[in-house]
Amino acid sequence: MTWYENAQLQTKKLMEAGHATILAIESSCDETAAAVVRDGREVVSSVISSQIALHAQYGGVVPEIASRAHLDAVCPVVQEALERAKMTVSDVDAVAVTYGPGLVGALLVGVCYAKALAFAAGKPLIPVNHIEGHVSANYIAHPDLVPPFLCLVVSGGHSHIIRVEDYGRYTLLGQTMDDAAGEAFDKAARVIGLPYPGGPLLDKLSREGNPHALELPHVHTQGRYDYSFSGLKTALINAVHTAKQRGEEIVPADVAASFQHAAVELLSSKALLAATETGAKTVALAGGVASNSGLRDTMNDKCQKAHIRLVMPPPVLCTDNAAMIGSAAFYRLMRGEIATLELNAAPSLQLIRQN
Ligand code: KG4
Ligand code: ZN
Repeated sequence: MTWYENAQLQTKKLMEAGHATILAIESSCDETAAAVVRDGREVVSSVISSQIALHAQYGGVVPEIASRAHLDAVCPVVQEALERAKMTVSDVDAVAVTYGPGLVGALLVGVCYAKALAFAAGKPLIPVNHIEGHVSANYIAHPDLVPPFLCLVVSGGHSHIIRVEDYGRYTLLGQTMDDAAGEAFDKAARVIGLPYPGGPLLDKLSREGNPHALELPHVHTQGRYDYSFSGLKTALINAVHTAKQRGEEIVPADVAASFQHAAVELLSSKALLAATETGAKTVALAGGVASNSGLRDTMNDKCQKAHIRLVMPPPVLCTDNAAMIGSAAFYRLMRGEIATLELNAAPSLQLIRQN
């Protein structure tokens, strides 16, 4: 029997049993992560090795440096995840890996490693979409959460409002027309001189500032549930320039608070519009920007007023991690979606095929 035939047989048995313990690997950007997850909901162990310090001096992620750092980190990170779970690879039922979207060199490290490990250990290999992973972090944080629900996916590369119809079945309601939310936060942070990655630092600084210090426009888009962040970014740059020209003092905390207020208003108002107009009873947040304190608070308030249940992962499950990949992988495995050794990195992989 070939490795793949054996993987298919094991997958069939796991599907019948409805249970699986999965070793998941994530390396799509600047975090090398591994986790052991049981039945898609329970995190047995989770290890995240961040490369932030390596990239900070360049003001952003340098793909070549990221690939090399993943190569160094992947073995010890996977080893540690297994050790913390008190397991060896033979104790897990399957190996899962993020195969896109992301940086091709970074993704390849995880994909090659997972393929080799799954082959050597004789386990099924599960390919996972990184964005589906972000959405699935909510299944870990809220064990009673089941589709359908609406999800606001806001990360460094994505700003989507999607409807989760069922596990693995998504409908796109709205998306950004230009920059992603995380990108916008990072660029705004740069305007006030904060180092990479600016989003979390801007969030922290904004707590000390006046959110109404700068008047930033409400950006309109053609699509009801679509976003545009580049206009907001330009307005911020112009407002700072004008203030400088007038010789007015620029208080970084005020700039941070004003930007955060405007961005959160934009994100939350469209998400609520989509939720109420589609009759969603539950709204979920996902992606790195979902750890933003302003977004969490505002969504809480607005959903409460609209009598909509709001769920969100804790911040550590919002930013990149492998536990969320293990969760998404479980539902893929239960649908029999396993990979052959032909699996390749797919840097532009989409969650929903667009026309
Ligand atoms: O999901 P993620 O970890 O990686 C991607 O898949 O892109 O998201 C990273 C993005 C970065 O742009 C980062 O600045 C932003 O999420 N981010 C935040 C916060 N924490 C992370 N943005 C605003 N406020 C935060 N607290
Ligand atoms: Zn991510």
